[in-house]
Amino acid sequence: MTTTNAAAAALVGPGVDRVDGRLKVTGAARYPSDFTLPEMAYSALVRSTIAAGTIARIDTARAAAAPGVLAVITHDNAGRLHKAKWNLAYPPPPPPLQDAKITYNGQYVAMVVAETRQQAAAAARLVEVTYDRDEPVLSIEDPAARPKSNPYFLDMKRGNVKTAMAAAEVTVEGTFTTSAQTHNPIGPFTTVASWDRDTLTVYDSTQNPFLVRAVLAASFGLGEEKVRVLSPFVGGGFGAGLRSWPHSILAALAARTVNRPVQLSLTRPEMFTGIGRRPSTLQHLKIASARDGTLVAIEHEGTSTASMHSDSLYPITVGTIVSYACPNVTARDKRVRLNIPPIAHMRAPALAEGNFAVESLLDELSYELGMDPIELRLRNYAAVHPQTGLPWSSRALRECYKTGAERFGWAQREPAVRTMRDGRWLVGYGMAGVTFIQNHAKGQARATIRRDGTARVCSGATDIGTGTYTVMTQLAAEVLGLQADRIEFELGDTRLPWAPEAGGSGLTAALGSAVHNTCVALVKRVLGLVSDDPDSPLHGCAIEDVVASDGRLARSDDDSRGESYAEILQRHVLDSLTVDGDSAKPRGSTGVLVGSLAVSRLGRFGHKLIGASHATIPASAFGARFAEVRVDPELGVLRIARIVSVTDGGRIINQKLARSQLIGGTVGGIGMAMFEETVTDPGTGRVANATLSDYLVAVNADVPDIDVAFVGEPDPSNPIGAKGIGEVGLVGVAAAIANAVYHATGRRIRSLPITISQLL
Ligand code: MOS
Repeated sequence: MTTTNAAAAALVGPGVDRVDGRLKVTGAARYPSDFTLPEMAYSALVRSTIAAGTIARIDTARAAAAPGVLAVITHDNAGRLHKAKWNLAYPPPPPPLQDAKITYNGQYVAMVVAETRQQAAAAARLVEVTYDRDEPVLSIEDPAARPKSNPYFLDMKRGNVKTAMAAAEVTVEGTFTTSAQTHNPIGPFTTVASWDRDTLTVYDSTQNPFLVRAVLAASFGLGEEKVRVLSPFVGGGFGAGLRSWPHSILAALAARTVNRPVQLSLTRPEMFTGIGRRPSTLQHLKIASARDGTLVAIEHEGTSTASMHSDSLYPITVGTIVSYACPNVTARDKRVRLNIPPIAHMRAPALAEGNFAVESLLDELSYELGMDPIELRLRNYAAVHPQTGLPWSSRALRECYKTGAERFGWAQREPAVRTMRDGRWLVGYGMAGVTFIQNHAKGQARATIRRDGTARVCSGATDIGTGTYTVMTQLAAEVLGLQADRIEFELGDTRLPWAPEAGGSGLTAALGSAVHNTCVALVKRVLGLVSDDPDSPLHGCAIEDVVASDGRLARSDDDSRGESYAEILQRHVLDSLTVDGDSAKPRGSTGVLVGSLAVSRLGRFGHKLIGASHATIPASAFGARFAEVRVDPELGVLRIARIVSVTDGGRIINQKLARSQLIGGTVGGIGMAMFEETVTDPGTGRVANATLSDYLVAVNADVPDIDVAFVGEPDPSNPIGAKGIGEVGLVGVAAAIANAVYHATGRRIRSLPITISQLL
């Protein structure tokens, strides 16, 4: 069967609007906080004001007597909650309100349930907690935080770095730091929980509904079939919704306690302690090369901060091993435990930080060698996967550099620092290369064709604003040969077929492949009805022999001969036909191939070692970022003049949505480079800037013209040809900006965010 008929060509590609756009702009899309159930009560949380120690006493009498209060729950009366099953990628935090121990400022110590949100919040302020305070460990440099024996959770190498380093003609090295950041999706994370005997239903802000289901079931000792998680719309996530969080459990606990539905919606300050953060990091990096720019050795060590509990691993150096054709590489990662809130993956976790160090130091090397930065990268181009020598599934990084340089006007760059000016402003050009590891998760879908010629396709995934509804509708329409408005795509419900998390830039490829395969199977089922029917024009046709378009299957050798889905179902007296399907076993590898084994995306997808038989084709998205900056040499003010972002994202299924993803990623990258920093008070461990007025994100005035372009070909590692593009756009932006700052000023910034004081 051809899947590139005219109708489908119009569907997949440039001009498709979001299928849920109207619902969103009219306010009809229902986010978790929009669900109001009869008799619903509200929870408010009380958080610890110390970072380490124990609760000496909690006095709840005044809170309990306040107007509208239905219950006050603390570790004294919460009852036992069970620990959820271990999950390496997304470890469940310990169940809340189980003991008096405090390990971070902001930890939940009590919950008030009341008739209204305002009453709950007012009463929560009346809970009096006294603490026995211990000295918290809050700094990445604190010797108390250092891991004891064999600290490395990631330790990869090839060749012999020591020998190569010692013999090298040129070496550069540096220490790099990046700040903690908070995700800050616009939608406040909310759980609405209701019980019907021993059956629990929740509406939850999550990127990972099947994980939330598993954790809630475990917490209350229920079978997973007793828990239903719904997330039809999620107001953004950026990774904050990949793990499960204590507030979801608390909402269910509150609902069980008062025997009514309960809504628990986090306040903005609570979002800074309750749903993870990007950890602060410290990196040491050393790069050695020959005089002609050929890399001979890279030594990279990363340290990330973690909470006192099981957090997701954060392998900062994981991208270093695969980015360049360098024969000798070591990449190691460890973490230090602090009295801070849990960490979580945040858009391009670890890879963004690692890329900042590597691409900054390569820039430094280019000046050391007197070589153009792009030329240096091309000199060390990893034409094959450098760790295994296997060919990439597809790779258009060269085109990223070329297209980016042309669109940006890189040729106009004066190589020497502090030579380009615009009036009082120093002007700088900088660039960075990007290799972004691909995740190939599995997913399931269900497709139904109905007698009226419409179809319903579904899967329990979430759409966190990235466009899952739209893209899945397009992919189904393409295979089934239906107009998009004839297809209803449903998601966000754990009663639907299983789907992986909306994360790791992996959902489009995983679920898209499942939707594609399921729709192919559905067409085959329909053909199965008629292929042995001598009266059907499709008699004898296999799927290869037909074209689907306009709700009709026709012979590809003569498209006047065919019949519609409606006609076929009618003749067979069927109201509908349904098939279930899934994404095929990954043909490509998911991660970093090490020897004969592949380590999948560490930390986030587990250190699960995938056997070589599953993983023989390394797959990755690639990119090149170019930035022009202006620096006021007297005031230290940094402005971004423009950014060019070119990406090999495989087949782009929806230009409009893909471009939005890249713009969003770029804005996140500008935030990382210049603004975002979750500040911890060094005495109390409290987040000192837990509001959107104090925590700076890039706003319109900070964001210049962003020129987004895509290069590359459909990737053969999955049936829809896609590579993930949800995160890659953020990667490389900070390095391109820092490199441009160096070019403008001659000042090398190795610490993010770049502040005015660093430029004075
Ligand atoms: Mo992203 S950190 O995989 O939501």
